[in-house]
Amino acid sequence: MFEISDFFGYERYSLRCGKTELSVISLGAAISSLRYDGQELLLGFEDAEGYEKGWSYLNMIVGRYANRIRGGRVNISGREYQLECNEGRNQLHGGTEGLHKKRWTLSAHSDESFTLSCTSPDGECGYPGELKVSVSYTVTDASMTVRFQAVSDRDTVFAPTTHAYFRLNPSCFDTRLRLNASRYMPTDGENLPLGICPVDERFDFRSLRPIGENYDHCFIPDGECSALLSGEKTAVFFRSDFPAMQLYTGEFLPPAFEKNAGFALEPEFCPDSPNRSDCPSPLLKAGERFDRFAEYRFCPVEEILL
Ligand code: BGC
Repeated sequence: MFEISDFFGYERYSLRCGKTELSVISLGAAISSLRYDGQELLLGFEDAEGYEKGWSYLNMIVGRYANRIRGGRVNISGREYQLECNEGRNQLHGGTEGLHKKRWTLSAHSDESFTLSCTSPDGECGYPGELKVSVSYTVTDASMTVRFQAVSDRDTVFAPTTHAYFRLNPSCFDTRLRLNASRYMPTDGENLPLGICPVDERFDFRSLRPIGENYDHCFIPDGECSALLSGEKTAVFFRSDFPAMQLYTGEFLPPAFEKNAGFALEPEFCPDSPNRSDCPSPLLKAGERFDRFAEYRFCPVEEILL
């Protein structure tokens, strides 16, 4: 079932299918609620202010480039571009007027799915090309899928994410996590990657275990991105065709939330990939179609078979 309602002056689009209920607001195409079997799975703001301020990019669509780009510099098809730098001398999450700031419009809907779209003009936050972006949210009785599509009229880079913060336990340190990643990216003092290294004990989540401490790191999956998030009541099986995933445990959340109340597992391109030859390229050629997904399947925690 699909419904439109008001969320403090913004449109709110809701889907309900069996045990899964999803609401997304037009601002930043942010998920304002995701419930499975009556349980809220995400952190959420009570009103529009937190989303308008872009605090922690809570549950928003982030882009054009999710994560950091060193010096805000990119070389696209042989030409240097200086992007807007909004975190010291680097760019974070696409700049101040990124996709999280857009008021997205409804472009299609059905009983299980809807699509929100927006346009980022040529040169916005320093990125070349007029970029048309669509994000579709689809639910089934026990899943949510986010699909990203985009096309640009000039060669550009594009690497969005969905910045959903899961809250499956009162503290995310108690949520158990399994990641199919034998490599990760250690970071420097500016949170930029230093390289790609094999996981040591601290970063090895290949067997299900509590998150336990703070992370803000990119993991490189062995094959397709996949993860299991296991909370008090609900488990989430995550899979995506993005080349990497960032684990951010919410060390710095807005005052409305306790520290580490939720964590984000962001399907992404690697941080700073435009400046790295060891990572998949985020180049989106003029006229080429970007099309990637992130899928979340839910079940009662006692039903997970390890
Ligand atoms: C980044 C963190 C950043 C947070 C902002 C995450 O994706 O990895 O470094 O603080 O977003 O909310």
